[in-house]
This record gives sequence, C-alpha cells and structure tokens, in this order.
Amino acid sequence: MKARVRARANIALIKYWGKADDRLNIPAVGSISVTLDRLWSDTEVEFSDELSGDEFLLGGTSRPDQLARASNTLDLVRELAGVTLPARVSSENNFPTGAGLASSASGFAALSAAATRALGLELTERELSVLARRGSGSAARSIFGGFVEMHAGSAVDGSDSYAEPLLDAAAWPLVVVIAITGRGEKPVGSRSGMAASAATSPYYSAWVETSAADLALGRSAILAKDFAALARVAEHSCLKMHAAAMANQPPLLYWNPATVACLQACAALQAAGTPVFFTIDAGPQVKAVCTPDVVPTVVTALRGVPGVIDVIESGLGPGLEAL
Ligand code: PMV
Repeated sequence: MKARVRARANIALIKYWGKADDRLNIPAVGSISVTLDRLWSDTEVEFSDELSGDEFLLGGTSRPDQLARASNTLDLVRELAGVTLPARVSSENNFPTGAGLASSASGFAALSAAATRALGLELTERELSVLARRGSGSAARSIFGGFVEMHAGSAVDGSDSYAEPLLDAAAWPLVVVIAITGRGEKPVGSRSGMAASAATSPYYSAWVETSAADLALGRSAILAKDFAALARVAEHSCLKMHAAAMANQPPLLYWNPATVACLQACAALQAAGTPVFFTIDAGPQVKAVCTPDVVPTVVTALRGVPGVIDVIESGLGPGLEAL
C-alpha cells in the first residue's frame, strides 16, 4: 500500500486564470503548457492502519498547513478505492516551493498518481488528470510530457475538464530559461488571486472571453512549430492574465523590478533576432522560452539583469514516472 511517483513541473504558455466551479476546481478557461525536464516533485504515499490520521511532509518536514489540501486528494482516492485508511505523504521538490515555479502542479500530479497506485487503482491518464485537477488546476497538465493542452470542459461534474498531450517534447525541443528574481513564498497564492480577479477585476470577463482565440492560436502554432506565432500569443496571454490580476481590488502585482527588467531583456533579444519569448506565473520569476541554439545567449542576457538571483535552464520533459 505504498507507491512513489515523480511528476514534473509545467509552465503554461497559454494561461489558466479563474475557475468555473470552485468546489470541483473546474477552470474557467483552457490552457496550454510545456512540461519541464529539470524540475520535479517526488512523492511517496503509504496507506497504513498504524497512522492516527493523514500526515504530510515536504522535504522531510511536517507541513500541517498543507495537510488539508493533500487530504482532499487522498479522500477522493479513498472514495474511489472504497477504503478509509489514513496515509503518510512524503514529498520532495528539487526546486523552491511556492514561488511561481509551479510546485502545486508537480506536487498534486505526483500525489494523485502515487495515492492511486498505492491502493492498486488503475486509472486512465485522463482520469488521473481529472483527479490531479481537483488538487490544483495546473496539476492536470503535469500528468503528461511535452506540450500539453488542458480543456476547460463544459460538464457540470468536471468529467471533461482534463489535459491531454498536444505534441511530444522530442518533436520540438524548446528550452525554458528561468530567471529567479525573488525567493520565498508568494504572499497571494494563485487560488485566491484568481478568485479575487473574478470578483473584482473589470478585465476578468474580457480575459475569459478572449481565451478561446488564444488557445486556438497557441495550438496551431505548436502543431506547426511556428516559433514567432507561439511567441506572440504566449506573451499576449501572459500579460493579459497579469493585467487582469493587477486590476484586482486590492491590486495584485506579482512582479518586482527585476521581473520587468527581464521582460525588457527578452524584448532586446527579440529585437536582435533571437528566438525567445517570456511568460510569468503567479510569482516574480520570468520564464524565457527559446530554441536550443540560443540558450547561451539567453542565459547570459538574463544573468546580466540586475536583481536576477539565479538562472535555471530546462528542456522539455516526460510525463509521470513511477519510482
Ligand atoms: O494550478 P493553480 O490553481 O495553482 O493555478 C496556476 C495558475 C498559473 O500558474 C498562474 C497559470 C497556469 O496556467 O499555470
């Protein structure tokens, strides 16, 4: 009754922001992401009648603050398997947690897969994606490798709100160069940030209304391996999401001065003909996506930006791996 799974982080190129259903965690919009090779969560789940309740450890340290969310996913798995046993979840991230590096995506994908395996459930990848979504919207995408599309779906029970592979990593081996511009956990998580956008941002409805067009452009750019087209729509989707959040009341600004400086560095690289574009999640880090040949140029440029603490580079990676 024990299993260990590795799931990788993913970065959305066409963003998800906002929910259609809070309880079932159904996103208001679809999204498209790339799964990263270098950033992962390794999660072990063991169900045992010797425990008095669920336990959650992150990097070997007990995290009671995160237990409720993990237990929610465990409850769904227990219900599927028809058991009531408590579980110990032990998770490790090989990257900083809660700072806009998508730790909830890899974490809940790994937790969903490890918990179902530990109880001998054989879910399809689509069912696993639906289960992972209940923990974190972006986790639905980390089940798969390469380029992944998440469908918002329309079923009230969320059964058609799942991710599926769009294109193999090997078919278009782009590289993501991550500029770390701030450490520490973000003050406002994506869950409450997007809820506040829906409730208070005048730009939220425009964000939702224009997302289908961005998805169509993103999907066709990826299938055609058209870098310039993907760059245009990805930067647009990112800035539109952040514009919606900035117009929250109270305002929600995830950026710091180095975040802006990195965007300007990307623009300067583009002006010089370098195939690169940026995206930013619910945190201050900038993810620069580029072709493999220009990685040294992009790394050097971002390292030179004042306020950049570290630069991590990652190719595109596979989906779930049993350990
Ligand atoms: O997976 P969640 O519910 O934490 O939301 C993720 C939201 C963004 O990272 C900002 C965008 C995305 O699509 O990953």
